[in-house]
Amino acid sequence: MLHILGAGSMGLLWAVRLQRAGLPVRLILRNAERLAAWHSQAGQLEVTDPGQQQHISLTLNAELPDSPEPINFLLVATKAYAAEAAVLSVRHRLSEGAQVLLLQNGMGSQQAISRQLSRHRVFYASVTDGAWRPSAHQLIWAGHGQTIIGDPRQGPAPDWLARWQSQGLTLEWHADIMAILWRKLAINCAINPLTALLDCPNGDLLERAHGRLEELSQELQQLLSAFGIPLSLDILRTQLDQVIRQTATNSSSMRQDMHAGRRTEIDFMLGFALRSADQLNLSVPALRKLNADLQTYLATHGLPLN
Ligand SMILES: NC(=O)c1ccc[n+]([C@@H]2O[C@H](COP(=O)([O-])OP(=O)(O)OC[C@H]3O[C@@H](n4cnc5c(N)ncnc54)[C@H](OP(=O)(O)O)[C@@H]3O)[C@@H](O)[C@H]2O)c1
Repeated sequence: MLHILGAGSMGLLWAVRLQRAGLPVRLILRNAERLAAWHSQAGQLEVTDPGQQQHISLTLNAELPDSPEPINFLLVATKAYAAEAAVLSVRHRLSEGAQVLLLQNGMGSQQAISRQLSRHRVFYASVTDGAWRPSAHQLIWAGHGQTIIGDPRQGPAPDWLARWQSQGLTLEWHADIMAILWRKLAINCAINPLTALLDCPNGDLLERAHGRLEELSQELQQLLSAFGIPLSLDILRTQLDQVIRQTATNSSSMRQDMHAGRRTEIDFMLGFALRSADQLNLSVPALRKLNADLQTYLATHGLPLN
């Protein structure tokens, strides 16, 4: 049995993908109220995949964090700021050899969980799929992306990975997942906060924030280099440009969170970058100003701060 902690967009997307590949899955919901609401719809989920012009309906089993059954495999699909507390709510159920896969965006929550689960194998993932929920029982798989999985301790790929791949799941293994996450962090630190501040789709940044993107790229490249992540400024600039063009009409997750009045994951993007720079006494004024501007924006708009 594979347990999925957090039945939001990503948790449900993974539940659907795994269950359709023939694997047994069970959702772990936050509390009895959420579980009752799930059962009131008989655990039914409507999934739409506009790209494939597919619409399916399936039933997913769910339980509470304090259910008695041991957990052998845990997939954590909460937001970054909720992940550590969520994991702690089920830690007592993890079996001796339990393995854990973390899907959180940004960085910082993964390391915190690894510290809490030092006796278990914990894998990190970088996910670029896009999914959202019009309601608790509806899921839109808006964009098929890439899932890269790795072991931060650089151990070998686990047995389940090849099995899942042979069962039709598109997943990639990378020997240096920390480098993948750092590079994704750099892209997110530049795009997400600027689109939130300027309240614009990603594509507008090339015209509206060209100078700021350039300053941020330089500091982010220095930061990655200081942490031993090889990425030249030219490649970072090119990748940033590519992502902005490929996702030109998208609204970044931070902008979407702000529009919905939800807490953002800024502390696991810019916050993590700034804390990392502080560790090495690295001067990053453009990143610091962006964070300050964003905090002011959140406060003046009455939006949740971290
Ligand atoms: N959605 C995407 O397209 C996408 C793409 C790439 C990466 N990601 C990343 O994936 C992660 C999850 O994002 P998401 O969009 O799936 O967020 P989401 O839709 O907000 O889902 C998060 C879920 O976690 C649940 N949760 C929080 N604390 C919990 C706890 N203690 N116990 C059980 N459940 C708990 C929430 O339940 P409640 O409703 O009870 O709060 C919610 O259902 C984020 O780091 C995000 O950046 C998302």
